[in-house]
Amino acid sequence: MTEAWGPDDGTRRPGGPVRVRVPAKINLHLGVGPVRPDGFHELSTIYHAISLFDELRASPGDTLALTMEGEGQGELALDDTNLAIRAARALAEHAGVPAYARLHLRKSIPLAAGLAGGSADAAAALLACDALWGTGLSREELADVGATLGSDVPFLLHGGTALGTGRGEAVSPILARPTVWHWVVALAHGGLSTPDVYRELDRLRAGGRAPESMPGLDDVMAALRQRNPEVLGDVLGNDLQAAALSLRPELSDVLKAGYEAGAVAGIVSGSGPTCVFLAGDGAHAERVASGLAEAGVCRQVSTARGPMPGARVT
Ligand code: C5P
Repeated sequence: MTEAWGPDDGTRRPGGPVRVRVPAKINLHLGVGPVRPDGFHELSTIYHAISLFDELRASPGDTLALTMEGEGQGELALDDTNLAIRAARALAEHAGVPAYARLHLRKSIPLAAGLAGGSADAAAALLACDALWGTGLSREELADVGATLGSDVPFLLHGGTALGTGRGEAVSPILARPTVWHWVVALAHGGLSTPDVYRELDRLRAGGRAPESMPGLDDVMAALRQRNPEVLGDVLGNDLQAAALSLRPELSDVLKAGYEAGAVAGIVSGSGPTCVFLAGDGAHAERVASGLAEAGVCRQVSTARGPMPGARVT
């Protein structure tokens, strides 16, 4: 089925600015298989979009330019290497239109944090430019263009809770009864490079110091259906956690502090260094967040809910 993605409220002036909001992702299960011939690892993962958002505004322009504010300002390159710029160019090439737009990013998702902030910005740029240029691609077509830019881009266009296979780019929604899950997000000082974390996992496995891909995906699916945080907390798992902890041993203090603050469970998010903690409800999440903040082991602590929709025109 193809579904044209226009503005959601029908009020946007044609050719006028388009605003898109896009969530961060965490992985409730991240099973990492062997390295493939293309250098990527085969994944089986359960993605979950949370209420930590980047916003991207696209306006008409006579060139392609990107400005930004917020997380990573002064650090994030705004040139042709930026994933939002690369996404706009990829869409323009795919649709056969000139890549002219002024993009402005308001970032809340930190860089290199294991929250897919770069992929989120690519997803937002695809959707925003599609609306600005009237190219009218379906969500699936945008996801196909996005998959060439980053493994998590297709998921960030879809959002919700979804199964990811292949290198993560093959996404199928998980249909569960609507449930709100409450999270505490512990941001770290500095980032971790995703390729470095995958390489560290390969190194640990080669030395017999990390297990091969863990089972447990079906347990997470079953726990999502039960809608019980204790049950879900027992089965959260991330093969990259051992590698992230090996590169950043102090993350074990963050995980410990989260449990001491009463979290149901804690896990490194994706390739880290962000740690996320599951709470029983919103009030519990607030208590865990203040306990964790008092422990003084992370840069910033906030609460979030999931699942959230993927990139959306606002
Ligand atoms: O696709 P993405 O840009 O997120 O990938 C960043 C890096 O993470 C890749 O270049 C690769 O080193 C590693 N990666 C991997 N296997 C995956 C996804 C990412 O090895 N399935």
